[in-house]
Amino acid sequence: MKQLHKQSSINVRRDEEIATSKSSQYSPKTLKHPRSLPRSIHYLLKEQRLLFVLVGILIGSTFFILQPTLSRLGPTEPRTSIPRSFQVSADLPERDQVSSVVPKFVHGYGRVPASVPRRRLRIVVTGGAGFVGSHLVDKLIARGDDVIVIDNFFTGRKENVVHHFKNPRFELIRHDVVEPILLEVDQIYHLACPASPVHYKYNPIKTIKTNVMGTLNMLGLAKRIGARFLLTSTSEVYGDPLEHPQKETYWGNVNPIGVRSCYDEGKRTAETLAMDYHRGAGVEVRIARIFNTYGPRMCLDDGRVVSNFVAQAIRKQPLTVYGDGKQTRSFQYVSDLVDGLMALMEGEHVGPFNLGNPGEFTMLELAEVVKETIDPSATIEFKPNTADDPHKRKPDISRAKELLNWEPKISLRDGLPRMVSDFRNRILNEDEAKGF
Ligand SMILES: NC(=O)c1ccc[n+]([C@@H]2O[C@H](COP(=O)([O-])OP(=O)(O)OC[C@H]3O[C@@H](n4cnc5c(N)ncnc54)[C@H](O)[C@@H]3O)[C@@H](O)[C@H]2O)c1
Repeated sequence: MKQLHKQSSINVRRDEEIATSKSSQYSPKTLKHPRSLPRSIHYLLKEQRLLFVLVGILIGSTFFILQPTLSRLGPTEPRTSIPRSFQVSADLPERDQVSSVVPKFVHGYGRVPASVPRRRLRIVVTGGAGFVGSHLVDKLIARGDDVIVIDNFFTGRKENVVHHFKNPRFELIRHDVVEPILLEVDQIYHLACPASPVHYKYNPIKTIKTNVMGTLNMLGLAKRIGARFLLTSTSEVYGDPLEHPQKETYWGNVNPIGVRSCYDEGKRTAETLAMDYHRGAGVEVRIARIFNTYGPRMCLDDGRVVSNFVAQAIRKQPLTVYGDGKQTRSFQYVSDLVDGLMALMEGEHVGPFNLGNPGEFTMLELAEVVKETIDPSATIEFKPNTADDPHKRKPDISRAKELLNWEPKISLRDGLPRMVSDFRNRILNEDEAKGF
């Protein structure tokens, strides 16, 4: 073994000697000598090598010249929907500037030419099994979007969305927004909250928790996933208004310790949270202040004046008027509201925007329209008014008209008959279930 090793080291040394003796005959250093320049030129000119070099240079420079143009023509990289730049409208007073701060990008993407088909969106509707939510879901599904409804069914009903159950673009999740949830969506319509006084006063602590913690959770989700967030606030933020009609610039007259404050102050806090997430975390928010809305699928006995009157007239009961009946309200048909909410979500303005029908009716006038539509022989019964009931309510919708190009189309006399058959069927089913 030792011998073998010795032999191989001798061989290595011999190889080294041979190499040194060879190098003495041929020195590669001579190549670098200036006298070899003609030889290099000769090498370059031989076998069209120069031509290949020139063609290479030409291809390289063509690529670098065209590259920026090509990258502009290629598909746009999706940008984060957290707006990086804002524009502020100069025609509003300073205190309202924040409401007109608009993100430059819609849906978090660069502007696309009109001819490019719209991307299908995935949208969450909290409270989507309720009255307004279910109509919104219908319209979003009809537009071709994917919709996920989150609802705890406190006032909502599966029947309101049952017609979508077989649609693969529809999902229903039983969930309480007071608890956090993680989903991947483009837009969040946040409606979850009981809307009628009967329901929101039933458990006021739960109502304010829904408004504060529920809104916080959904805003947190919007921030995390870069989704656009729309809050359905209410005309109740104006309380018993001292300004008439109410503009978005009016700060309201709300009793902070009254029986309605779980709802009124809850919604005011929800608006505050939305604006703070917008200013502080760059979340794209939209705020709608909804005025009285009516239509099919309203809860039958929820204490709201239109549903009360219609149900009472169908059941042949006297129509209950609280107080002297001279307090005024405006009534908006639900499809008008849904159009307004979608225009707001798709538009570039944060709001808040009043969404309501400016037609103003006293309770007694409304009772007359219900009598004309359903039962002219119906009678009226007066009862003492409830606490903190506002005397007047009428939206000024000039801002929505101008910036969202939206205004309601359906008058009370046209809208009321559209909800009567739905109410009749449900009252009939209820009576059958009770064995009448
Ligand atoms: N309808 C109106 O006239 C009117 C007026 C002003 C504001 N709004 C607002 O519009 C939204 C929808 O109102 P609506 O009339 O459809 O009321 P609704 O009671 O019919 O619908 C509310 C829905 O939210 C659900 N919900 C309630 N609490 C929840 C919770 N903690 N977690 C998950 N789901 C919950 C209910 O089950 C229901 O499906 C509400 O935010 C309401 O404040 C409505």
